[in-house]
Amino acid sequence: MNVLLIAGARPNFMKIAPIYRASLSYKNVVCSIVHTGQHYDKEMSGTFFEELEIPQPRYALNVGSGSHATQTAGIMVAFEEVCRREAPDLVLVVGDVNSTLACSIVAKKCGISVAHVEAGLRSFDLSMPEEINRMVTDAISDSFFVTEESGVANLLREGKQKDRIHAVGHVMVDNLLHQVKRMEGIEPSCFETYRLKEAAGPYLFLTLHRPSNVDSKEVFGGIARAINELAAQRTVFFPVHPRTRNMMSVHGTELSDRVILLPPLGYRDALFLWKDAEVVLTDSGGLQEETTALGVPCVTIRENTERPITVEIGTNVLAGTAPERILAGYRQSLEKRGRARVPQLWDGRAAERIWQVLAGEGR
Ligand code: UD1
Repeated sequence: MNVLLIAGARPNFMKIAPIYRASLSYKNVVCSIVHTGQHYDKEMSGTFFEELEIPQPRYALNVGSGSHATQTAGIMVAFEEVCRREAPDLVLVVGDVNSTLACSIVAKKCGISVAHVEAGLRSFDLSMPEEINRMVTDAISDSFFVTEESGVANLLREGKQKDRIHAVGHVMVDNLLHQVKRMEGIEPSCFETYRLKEAAGPYLFLTLHRPSNVDSKEVFGGIARAINELAAQRTVFFPVHPRTRNMMSVHGTELSDRVILLPPLGYRDALFLWKDAEVVLTDSGGLQEETTALGVPCVTIRENTERPITVEIGTNVLAGTAPERILAGYRQSLEKRGRARVPQLWDGRAAERIWQVLAGEGR
């Protein structure tokens, strides 16, 4: 079975790593990585290949940034050529970024089967580009690998065949548990962020990058007010995404001195900091889940989440973007600590289950 495994943006790399590793147990599977180049800076892409032990991509499409149409179209044109050349049996896409959407459309139009990992998640908010990417990808995929119960329910409601939907757990948690284990043997001083952490006392860890939060001066201003208030009590570590850095300079956003601005961090340095944070504040999809997997309190600075299990049983509090709600969310998340549970099948074996299903389908 010839499989193309697609990655393009930062949140994809941690998902393809365990899938690639688990493929090596199957002698009849040749799994090749295609990197679309949606993210390309060392700190947004290259670092992850090294740290997550992913081999260099077989195909690097080097598409780069642009408007949604430019980026999506660029990936489609370049990936069509790869599909022609490779004629794979299966294209495996993960998550909900533009690369996921572009490659699944191209594969289907070339008559190639598509499997979507992290299928069925829905925020029901079509102003999010990721929601469009998720819905279109699921509309045309052949196999659905699902992380949480809501995903199964959403796909069934949308008319998908039950035998195509596979609750397998979460490959991102496979990677997280693998990386936590590997870190155990490493001297803390090897992490670039070691000195910061040592000097901080109890601290918060913040990430923000969603256009709906950072592109609007008013919304970003409200979030900044809440963060500055929290920073009066606690150091806040804030690795800044390139989009966010740009918008901070456009808006002239002012943050307290106790908000420590960092460049985008590699996987291990980020994990080294957030795993011991008192609370993580984020608008990321993945961190909502990773914090739940490790039992770290999390405040999600969004109005909705496509990952409801993290709020229902995990450590996540959905706070929205208004400053007073973020502050209330912070207090609520501390109360959740110790009471939360880890969702079923988030046990580090999702990638194994995916390949069992694909092998069982006789591909
Ligand atoms: C993308 C994903 C989002 C994901 C996020 C994680 C889509 C629609 N969005 O958003 O779901 O949560 O990645 O980071 O696919 N840039 C750089 N260097 C890079 C990459 C980007 O400087 O290596 C800058 C560029 O100015 C670019 C901007 O960041 O225009 C945004 O990048 P883009 O990939 O378009 O979207 P993200 O906001 O990163």
